[in-house]
Amino acid sequence: MKEKLEKIRQEAIKRISESKDLDALNEIRVAYLGKKGELTEVLKGMRDVAAEDRPKVGQMVNDARAAIEEKMEAAKEEFTRRLTEQRLAAETIDVTLPASKKDMGHPHPNTVALEELQRIFIGMGYEVVEGPEVELDYYNFEALNIPANHPAKDEQDTFYINKEIVLRTQTSPVQVRVMEKQKPPIRIIAPGRVYRSDEVDATHSPCFHQIEGLVIDKGITMADLKGTLALFAKEMFGADTKVKFRPHHFPFTEPSAEMDVTCFKCGGKGCRFCKGEGWIEILGCGMVHPKVLRMSGIDPDVYSGFAFGIGLERIALLKYEIDDMRLLYENDERFLKQF
Ligand code: DAH
Repeated sequence: MKEKLEKIRQEAIKRISESKDLDALNEIRVAYLGKKGELTEVLKGMRDVAAEDRPKVGQMVNDARAAIEEKMEAAKEEFTRRLTEQRLAAETIDVTLPASKKDMGHPHPNTVALEELQRIFIGMGYEVVEGPEVELDYYNFEALNIPANHPAKDEQDTFYINKEIVLRTQTSPVQVRVMEKQKPPIRIIAPGRVYRSDEVDATHSPCFHQIEGLVIDKGITMADLKGTLALFAKEMFGADTKVKFRPHHFPFTEPSAEMDVTCFKCGGKGCRFCKGEGWIEILGCGMVHPKVLRMSGIDPDVYSGFAFGIGLERIALLKYEIDDMRLLYENDERFLKQF
C-alpha cells in the first residue's frame, strides 16, 4: 500500500511539472483527485485494510493528497502569472503612435436645408413645433375642409391604419392641432415626415418631408403672406430672388396660391435647370379658410391668418442641384459628403 501510494504521488508530481497549461493541470486533478481518480480509488479500498492500520494508511493518503495539491497550486499560480505577463506584453500601447481618425459622417442635404430654413423663420419670430406622423383622418382631411368624398382626398391617397387613422399625407394637420390648443397670435413652422402611396421614381417617394407654416392674428392679410414668403425666398436662395404667386386651389385656404421663385441658376432667363421656364415652383400657400378657423375654435370674424406648405426635398434638390430624389434616401456617404 505504501509503495502504491508513493508511486501515485511521484507520478502525479512528475505529470504536474511536465504540464504546459491550466487545461492540462485540470486533467491531472481529475485523474488523481477526482471522483474516479487514482487516489480516491485507494481511499475506497480502505475497507480491505486491517482496522489497526487504517489510521496510518489514512494519514499516508492524506499526505499524498496534500503534496499533490500543493504542487498543483504552485503550478497553477505560475501559469496564471505567465498568462498575465503575456497579456500585458501583448497589450502594450504605443502612446507615440498617431491616433486613428474617427469617421465623422456628414449632415444630410435635407438636414442642411431644414436648418437653414428654420434659422430664417426663427429669425422672424416663428416657433418650431411638431405633430404626429400617425394622424387621425379628422385632422389630416376633415378639419382641413376636405370632406370624405372630396377629390383632394383621392389625390393624396395614403396608408390607412384603419378607417380613422392614417399616415399623414401633409403637415397641414399640425395647423389644426396648434389652433385648437393655442390662442392667437400664432406663428409656427412644423417640419416633418409625410406619406403618400406613390411609386418611387426620380421625383416621388412614398415618404418625404414638408414644412408647414401658420400665422394667425388680428388683421393678417395676403400682404403679410407675400412679404413673409418673399423674404424667405431671398434668404434661402439669394438676395436677387424674385417671387411670383399663381392662383391655385387648396381646400383649407381661400384664396390659395402657389409660389414660384426665379431660377437661381439662370436668374430667370430660362435654362436646363428650370426647364426653360425661368421660374421654379416651391410652395403652396393661402389665407386660412374661415371654416378651418371656426372648426379649430378660432373666430374668423376676429382673427385671420395665412398658411404655407413647403416640400423639403424639393428645396434640397434645387439648392444643391441634385437631379434624382432617390439619392437622398440611400445615405451613401460619398454622395452626402458633397454638400
Ligand atoms: N398641404 C399642401 C400639400 O401637401 C401644401 C399646402 C398648401 C400647405 C397650401 C398649406 C397651404 O399650408 O396653405 O399639397
